[in-house]
Amino acid sequence: MGRPRPERLERLPQQYFVALLGRVAAAAREAGPPLVDLGRGNPEVGPPPHVVAALRDSADGEVHGYSPIRGLARTKEALAARYRDVYGVELDPETEIALVPGTKTAIVELALALADEGETILLPDPYYPDYPSGPALAGARLETFPLHADAGWAPDLDAAPAAAALYLNYPSNPCAVCAPEGVFAGAVRWAERTGGAVVHDAAYVDLVFDGRRPQSFLATPGAKDAGVEMWSMSKTYGMAGWRIGFVAGNAEIVERINLLNDHNRVGIFEPLQHAAIAALEGPQDSVAARVAAYERRRDTLAAALPVPFVCEGTFYVWIELPDGLGAERLLEEHRVAVAPGEGFGPSGAGWARLSLAVSDEAIALGAERLAQAFAAVVA
Ligand SMILES: Cc1ncc(COP(=O)(O)O)c(C=O)c1O
Repeated sequence: MGRPRPERLERLPQQYFVALLGRVAAAAREAGPPLVDLGRGNPEVGPPPHVVAALRDSADGEVHGYSPIRGLARTKEALAARYRDVYGVELDPETEIALVPGTKTAIVELALALADEGETILLPDPYYPDYPSGPALAGARLETFPLHADAGWAPDLDAAPAAAALYLNYPSNPCAVCAPEGVFAGAVRWAERTGGAVVHDAAYVDLVFDGRRPQSFLATPGAKDAGVEMWSMSKTYGMAGWRIGFVAGNAEIVERINLLNDHNRVGIFEPLQHAAIAALEGPQDSVAARVAAYERRRDTLAAALPVPFVCEGTFYVWIELPDGLGAERLLEEHRVAVAPGEGFGPSGAGWARLSLAVSDEAIALGAERLAQAFAAVVA
């Protein structure tokens, strides 16, 4: 085909995780001891058996035609119940919840739904590397502002500039902190001051450690006027491959997502929705077990590494690398893959993200190799 690609595709940044997976796969093929891959954030344990059974059982029914475009009412009611019971938030399932095939899709759709060409989308830096893709497709301008480790990676939103939308993410990937005191209220004030919309990404909302309680942005007074929250089945229930999530909160923004869905896709396979309902309404002990496993692996790393780190939630550790030790060297010389910090924005330079979503054995081996690598450069 002789025609050039449309400009909007040319604007897309390099996809960080696709590049990372390629680099790690190439390193794994090289001669040497088996690689320890702490680079990728992919839940290592799937959903509990009753969730898989709900998928299997409902797949035997009359579910193979097109499903309702905007999702089953029951699915959205199940999420509304979760918000009411766990996060203390009342949502109208019909108007304040949209169903999406994974929140990665919503990250892009929200940029299309909120920003006109040339308008700005604002990101605190470090940020989740998928965020720039939506603004690129929307023709929006990306503006970042730096966060600082010594301020607990907390943004000063009262000083943040105006924009069509501000993306926030707590617990934070990659910084592994929960929402610092007052940040959600600051986000509401930012929206009131600028007229922009807040997009809060709650992908890891339930994976919080040391007895913390899961915290929704929507529980903040004024939040439903200010914006929306993305809520994912992927991390809480180990359903990352299933592709099912939600956008909840401001009814006008939810309607815009539904409008895009009306044009873009035809519902979500019903058995997936029945499985999501089973996960949301059934026993929650698998979530507690997941949290306990991530805490345990975090503690293994903390005991082994000479550099202290903060890890309040998610399934990542965000750590500053000593001078002379980059992600490339860790991969090539020490056979440990990590996610290089600079991929999360300029403020991530010199840092690395380590995944806890691997086996205990992989964490133990990774901790040993990392400790040796750190010792080699510090000595
Ligand atoms: C911060 C953050 N947001 C969103 C996503 C995408 O999640 P989903 O599986 O719902 O598309 C991820 C996945 O790793 C993530 O880390």
